[in-house]
Amino acid sequence: MNLKEAAHTLLKANRRVTRDGHQYTVPSPSTYPYQWLWDSCFHSIVLAKLEPDAAIAELKSLLSRQQKDGMLPHMIFWRPRITRPYHMWWEKGVSSITQPPMIAYAAWEIYEQTGKTDFLKEMFPQMHAFYRYLIEQRDPHDHHLVSIINPDESGEDNSPRFDLAMRVKSNISFFGHMYRRHQLVAMNRTCGFDPLTCMHERFWVKDVPFNAILIKNLERLAQIAELLGETEAKKFATLHHDLIKFTMREYLMAEGVFWSAIGLEHGHLKVATWAHFAPLFAGLYTPEEAKDLIQNHFNNTETFRSEFGIRTVSKKEASYRPNGFWRGPVWFAPHWFIYKGLKDYGFNEEAQWIREVSVSLIEKHGFREYFDPETGKAYGAHNFTWGALVLDMLES
Ligand code: GLC
Repeated sequence: MNLKEAAHTLLKANRRVTRDGHQYTVPSPSTYPYQWLWDSCFHSIVLAKLEPDAAIAELKSLLSRQQKDGMLPHMIFWRPRITRPYHMWWEKGVSSITQPPMIAYAAWEIYEQTGKTDFLKEMFPQMHAFYRYLIEQRDPHDHHLVSIINPDESGEDNSPRFDLAMRVKSNISFFGHMYRRHQLVAMNRTCGFDPLTCMHERFWVKDVPFNAILIKNLERLAQIAELLGETEAKKFATLHHDLIKFTMREYLMAEGVFWSAIGLEHGHLKVATWAHFAPLFAGLYTPEEAKDLIQNHFNNTETFRSEFGIRTVSKKEASYRPNGFWRGPVWFAPHWFIYKGLKDYGFNEEAQWIREVSVSLIEKHGFREYFDPETGKAYGAHNFTWGALVLDMLES
């Protein structure tokens, strides 16, 4: 199979154009028929290399539904009819929550491929407003850690990392968990998503991957600002990049790895997930710490490493389910983040392994959503776009 051609064909088949001319890609035509925030950033990263104009259009489509306060919704319901369970997030045609802020990273990838700056100039004020929203609204106490208000905002909908914060047991069912997340949205809606009152009391997690992704994106935002001569914006991005980086190391690190935290006191949510590896993407570990991480966790077959890739949850956790959506299976997006981090640190052998197992999963199953780490069985959505990220692994 020619992976490049297959990935491009999939992205084109999943492309949609709205009546008013917005162009985007659905993650999976049957399972995920709308536009998703971090998915669109993934699509743009890949399309930057294949069809940069489509990559730009995808990001513009995301920005077209930015909220007044700067938030970018995690879903845009371009289709008039909303199917269950997505109606639960509905708020005037978009979702009421956000998702990991990958947009500056994606925009920079397009710039690197094309050298174009006109689209950056056009998009910059809106991108800047999104990062300002996260830093101002989602960190009301100036803790220098941004919070998520619903597990779906992490993109790892039912990850056991959030069980304590969600007040659910480790053996909760997929639908039971979804019900709780919907309840959370409904409760937050009653107080207009006000950060300091209700949101703060219900679910307020300083999540490791979300903040690590934010740090990397602030680095990219600063680069874009520099390119465009936006001096104040560059200062803003650099300052918060440094503050969040410092605070993550200060408050979220224990036993050589990073843990997501809850509450004003930063109580660690001690469930071992791939969140240990996400900070590689933002350069948060020292080279020595990274070496230990690879030795003790990444290469440990009793916890994270399986024949088919990196488990999203350690096999030793009571909540681990090899077919349990975000409670253990192998996913392409975590693989891609880890791959990027490994390359930055110079762990080429490990990076090559991630790339190879990812390619084999696609060769065997086509573009599926997630995989059983013990058997390699494919689950979830068909014609799911995240496999296209492998192209970026092959070409970087
Ligand atoms: C699932 C994933 C989420 C993704 C969405 C669309 O809900 O958990 O991360 O954005 O599907 O692909």
